[in-house]
Amino acid sequence: MFCMFALCLCWWRLAGVFGESVSVTEGDSVTLNTDTQISKDDIRWTFGAENSIIVKIKIKRQNFSTYDGPDGRFRDRLKLDNQTGSLTIMNIRSEHAGDYILLITGINRTIKTFSVSVYARLPVPVLTFSSSQCSPSQYNCSVVCSVVNVSAVSLSWYKGNSVLSSISVSDLSISLSLPLEVEYQDKNTYSCVINNPISNQTTQLNITKHCQTCEGMIAPTCLKQKCSYSNNGLLQVLQTLDLRYC
Ligand SMILES: *[C@@H]1O[C@H](CO)[C@@H](O)[C@H](O)[C@H]1NC(C)=O
Ligand SMILES: *[C@@H]1O[C@H](CO)[C@@H](O)[C@H](O)[C@H]1NC(C)=O
Ligand SMILES: *[C@@H]1O[C@H](CO)[C@@H](O)[C@H](O)[C@H]1NC(C)=O
Ligand SMILES: *[C@@H]1O[C@H](CO)[C@@H](O)[C@H](O)[C@H]1NC(C)=O
Ligand SMILES: *[C@@H]1O[C@H](CO)[C@@H](O)[C@H](O)[C@H]1NC(C)=O
Ligand SMILES: *[C@@H]1O[C@H](CO)[C@@H](O)[C@H](O)[C@H]1NC(C)=O
Ligand SMILES: *[C@@H]1O[C@H](CO)[C@@H](O)[C@H](O)[C@H]1NC(C)=O
Repeated sequence: MFCMFALCLCWWRLAGVFGESVSVTEGDSVTLNTDTQISKDDIRWTFGAENSIIVKIKIKRQNFSTYDGPDGRFRDRLKLDNQTGSLTIMNIRSEHAGDYILLITGINRTIKTFSVSVYARLPVPVLTFSSSQCSPSQYNCSVVCSVVNVSAVSLSWYKGNSVLSSISVSDLSISLSLPLEVEYQDKNTYSCVINNPISNQTTQLNITKHCQTCEGMIAPTCLKQKCSYSNNGLLQVLQTLDLRYC
C-alpha cells in the first residue's frame, strides 16, 4: 500500500518536472490542451498544491462535471471540451495561477502538468513634461514617462529600435517613472515601453504634443505665450511672452 502511494507521489513529481509552462494576461482565457481525443478513459483535472479536483469526466456514465475548487474560485470560469477533455479557464485572475494536473486513467494513462502564470494587464505609459520652469534659453524638452501600480515589469525609453534607458521592478510598485531629455528639433522617434515577459504597451513621444508649452520659444514664429507649471504637473499658459525672449 505504502509502495503504491510512494509510486504515485513519484508520478506526480515526474509530471511536474516535464510539465508545460503557460503564461496568460489577467482577464484573458487560457485553454489547457489534452492533445488527445476522449475515448474510453476517465479524465480528471486537479489544481494547486492540494490537488483539488476541478474536473471529473466519467466516460461510462457520460458524466462531465466541473467543480468550483478551493474557495469557489473557479465558479463559472471553467469550460470543458467534451471531445478532447481540454480545459478552458475563462477571465483568469492571479488566484488561478498554479499547477494544473491532467490525469487520464486506463491503458493510455497520462499525467500532464501545466504551470500557469498570470500576469497583470499592463497600463499605457503616460508622458508628462517635467521641467519645473520654462526658460526661454532651454532648448531641451524634459519628459517623464510613468506608470502606476505595476509589478514585475520593465519601463524603457527607446530611440528608434534601441534602448536608451530602462528600469525594472519585481514587486508591486505604486509609481514608476523614467525621465528623458530631448532637443526640440530632434527628428528621431522616441517611445516609452512598458513590458513584462508576455506583453508590452507603448506610448510614442510627440514633441509637439508633450513639450507643447515650450515649443513657442524655439519655433521660428515664436508663439506669444509664457508657460508656468502648477504643482501637479499640469501646464498652464499664464501670460503673453515678451517678444524679446524669442
Ligand atoms: C489508447 O490509445 C489508442 C491510440 O491513441 C486508442 O486507439 C485506444 O482506443 C486508447 N485506449 C483507450 C482505452 O482509450
Ligand atoms: C455526475 O457526477 C456527479 C458526482 O461525481 C453527480 O453529482 C452528478 O449528479 C452526475 N451527473 C449525472 C448527469 O450523472
Ligand atoms: C458535447 O458538446 C456538444 C456541444 O457543446 C453537445 O451538443 C453534446 O451534447 C455534448 N456531449 C456530451 C456527451 O456532453
Ligand atoms: C492597484 O492594484 C491593486 C491590486 O492589483 C488594486 O486593487 C488597486 O485598485 C490598484 N490601484 C490603482 C490606483 O489602480
Ligand atoms: C539637451 O539634451 C541633450 C541630449 O538629448 C544633452 O546632450 C544636452 O546636454 C542637453 N542640453 C541642455 C542645455 O540641457
Ligand atoms: C511588443 O510586443 C509585440 C508583440 O506583441 C512585439 O512585436 C514587439 O517587439 C514588442 N516590443 C517591445 C519593445 O518589446
Ligand atoms: C503630435 O501632436 C500634435 C498636437 O497634438 C498633432 O497635431 C500631431 O498630429 C501629432 N503628431 C504625430 C506624429 O502623432
